[in-house]
Parts: sequence; structure tokens; C-alpha cells
Amino acid sequence: MMKQFTRRSSVYDCSIVHLDQVHDRAGNITALENNKSIPFEIRRVYYLYDVPGGEERGGHAHYDLQQFVVAVSGAFDVLLDDGTNKKIVHLDRPFIGLHITTGIWRELLNFSSGSVCLVLASQRYQEHDYVRSYEEFKEASRCSNSLNR
Ligand code: TYD
Repeated sequence: MMKQFTRRSSVYDCSIVHLDQVHDRAGNITALENNKSIPFEIRRVYYLYDVPGGEERGGHAHYDLQQFVVAVSGAFDVLLDDGTNKKIVHLDRPFIGLHITTGIWRELLNFSSGSVCLVLASQRYQEHDYVRSYEEFKEASRCSNSLNR
């Protein structure tokens, strides 16, 4: 039987979150806390850096994982695709986050030089949670649509 997404979601469920800032003459702080600014329990934190000009990251979806992405330095675009609709979000501020819900195909592109992409994830790294083939993604999203709607 076709593997399904644990929750059906659309690109419109992927929200931009304006994070609180503590301003100071000597610089600013933004803090991220479980179930407060981040709408899930954080189980993993990683960051992408030293991305060569013109390179793209992502190119996959997840069966269960949710992510929260912040351009803590520099800028990049996130292309979101739910199998029906597509949306491009430009991230370029350390106090703006993007919540990527379950079952969304994502591509990260147009990284500015020296940019750092912080990712908070709802699960530890598990290769079996990845959908790396776009065909498989389309099939899983068709399946989730018909069963969960
Ligand atoms: P991947 O998630 O495909 O990177 P991206 O979506 O940024 O392009 O991961 C690339 C490789 O890095 C993958 O083969 C395994 C490894 N990896 C880990 O070991 N742990 C992790 O937490 C992540 C995100 C990746």
C-alpha cells in the first residue's frame, strides 16, 4: 500500500511567523522555544552554510517531519509545493520564520553569499521519512488528498 503523509497540508498551511526580538544598543536577540514561537516539539536543530552560488538544496518532502526555517544571516528563497499549489517565500530577516508543514515538497534556492539557513525540525534525522522522488511525492499527495479530505 502507498505510504501516506501523517497529515494532509497545503502550501497555505505553511505560515510566516514574525518572531519576538529583544532590542539593545549592542545588538538584538531572538529566542526560539518549543510550542511557543515554534508550533511543534523541537527534536533537532541544524544549519546550512557555505552554500556555493547557484546551488539548490532540498528537493524533497517528508512523510511526517515539520520544519521551521530562518535565514539567520543573508537570504534565500523557499519554493513550497503541495502537489497542487506552489508558493515561493523569500526569507531575508533573522526574526522571520517559515513553518513548513508535513507533506510539502520544498526547494531552497538563490542563496546569497555567506547566508546561513537555520532549521528546527520535529524529528531526528530519519532517511525513511524522506520522499526524494517527485513522482512518489505526487502519488503520496494524491493518495493523502483522497483519503483525508
Ligand atoms: P538533506 O536533508 O537531503 O539536505 P538538504 O535538504 O539541505 O538539501 O541532507 C543531505 C545529507 O545530509 C543526507 O544525505 C544526510 C545528511 N544529514 C544528516 O546526516 N543529518 C541531518 O540532520 C540532515 C538534515 C542531513
